[in-house]
Amino acid sequence: MAKGTVTYDFSGKTAVVTGGAMGIGEAAVRRFAEAGASVAIADIDADKGKQLEEQLRSQGCRVRFLKTDVGSESDVKQLMDEAVGWTGRIDAVYNNAGVAIPGDVATMSEEDWQRVLNINLGGVFRGCKFSLPHMEKQGSGAIVNCSSTQAIHGFHGWAGYAATKGGILAMTRQIAIDYASKGIRVNAVSPGTIMTPMNEKIFEEVEDPQALIDTWNRAHPVGRFGQPSEVADLVMYLCSDAAAFITGQTFVIDGGQTIRGE
Ligand SMILES: NC(=O)c1ccc[n+]([C@@H]2O[C@H](COP(=O)([O-])OP(=O)(O)OC[C@H]3O[C@@H](n4cnc5c(N)ncnc54)[C@H](O)[C@@H]3O)[C@@H](O)[C@H]2O)c1
Repeated sequence: MAKGTVTYDFSGKTAVVTGGAMGIGEAAVRRFAEAGASVAIADIDADKGKQLEEQLRSQGCRVRFLKTDVGSESDVKQLMDEAVGWTGRIDAVYNNAGVAIPGDVATMSEEDWQRVLNINLGGVFRGCKFSLPHMEKQGSGAIVNCSSTQAIHGFHGWAGYAATKGGILAMTRQIAIDYASKGIRVNAVSPGTIMTPMNEKIFEEVEDPQALIDTWNRAHPVGRFGQPSEVADLVMYLCSDAAAFITGQTFVIDGGQTIRGE
């Protein structure tokens, strides 16, 4: 366990993580599992999801891979129903799955716009929609939705993606209001640049990856990217009883990226 990591006790609880096979989602799956939760790993990538399931089971963790496309209403409904069928409850949901589709408004195709909207914003909508009734029956639950610093400040060429991440913040506040009296808390995290396969893919596509890495490192006043486990720790805190008085909020985790004035 990393230096400074806080441990939580999620034994007897069930967590669902979308996009849980890789990157930030994978780190959250590991944290929840290590904390004793039963974890449903929901991902569109069955190979990676099953690999992670196998690895964590061999370590004695209680995890289950459920192939899910968050862009599909029936898939997400089935995911939440199967999680409840498996353990009888859903205590924490991390709506993490997302895709990075670049493009400014004038050049982005209608197809790309619909795709990024459907997966990023639609995926969070469905993750909330189909877990909330189960949480309402229990009278408790915590949801964390994954936004981005792109919801807060601008970058060239990412209008569609940024719009989905801004929508997630607005929707998070509304759902938090609707469900606060039912014992359910809903918050959002807005990560800065985190080293995951999503960004590795971007680096592979540019001419000078090191130049881009240096630029992105400099964009964070702490001088480096974030690690997936650092976001996972924040998600764990927000899903834990330590955050019982926190709902409807956005937590920026960005090494100071959004506070710099130059
Ligand atoms: N990495 C960053 O710098 C960064 C910064 C801010 C926000 N985010 C957000 O964090 C979240 C996770 O990003 P990441 O960097 O770990 O991404 P990643 O691409 O490394 O991993 C994303 C995971 O989601 C899965 N996925 C993709 N589409 C899916 C779908 N339709 N249904 C189910 N699963 C699907 C992928 O298979 C993969 O396992 C995303 O919402 C992303 O927008 C990432």
